[in-house]
Amino acid sequence: MRNDIERVLIDEEVIVKRLDGMAMDIERDFPAGTLVVIILLKGALVFAADLLRRVPRVLEIECLNVTSYHGGVESSGKVDFPDRHFPEVRGRHVLLLDDILDTGRTLHAVKRRLTEEGAVAVHTAVLLAKDKPRSEEVGADYVGFEIGDEFVVGYGLDYQGKYRNLPYVGVLKLTATV
Ligand code: IMP
Ligand code: MG
Repeated sequence: MRNDIERVLIDEEVIVKRLDGMAMDIERDFPAGTLVVIILLKGALVFAADLLRRVPRVLEIECLNVTSYHGGVESSGKVDFPDRHFPEVRGRHVLLLDDILDTGRTLHAVKRRLTEEGAVAVHTAVLLAKDKPRSEEVGADYVGFEIGDEFVVGYGLDYQGKYRNLPYVGVLKLTATV
């Protein structure tokens, strides 16, 4: 697997150290009480597992499938909710987790849906945010790392379903994408 990686962008040790800080920020910012956390599958799985174990409060964890990428390295633009079940969020404070903020369309669409479903407040956390122009309304409240505008894999992020289990974030070799 390592042979397919051009270069390591963020090491495992650096990631987990940053997660300690993010967990502390989240714990400090949210009002007391049980928080509903929504993990966007599958990309946010690894990030969520490591982040949420560092948040010292009672959490209810829900998972949600969204599709926006359809396997390539370019965003398709359209966000779908393929699950029949949508988490119950009426009257709740919600923390929404995704792997990466790229165009911002995914977080924007999910946030809007959660608000329509009656969530009191929705905050968003991402492991990575690509350094590119985005409108204010599609930002994230908590960002692990800002990265350049390039395609990355690992720590939950995939290329055509693969490489999610890499313990670090890296850039794929072009030869691995053919
Ligand atoms: P957005 O809606 O354009 O912000 O895209 C968000 C989704 O696109 C993420 O949840 C990822 O699944 C996927 N994505 C965006 N950039 C990358 C990348 O560099 N590597 C892997 N997946 C990515
Ligand atoms: Mg994805």
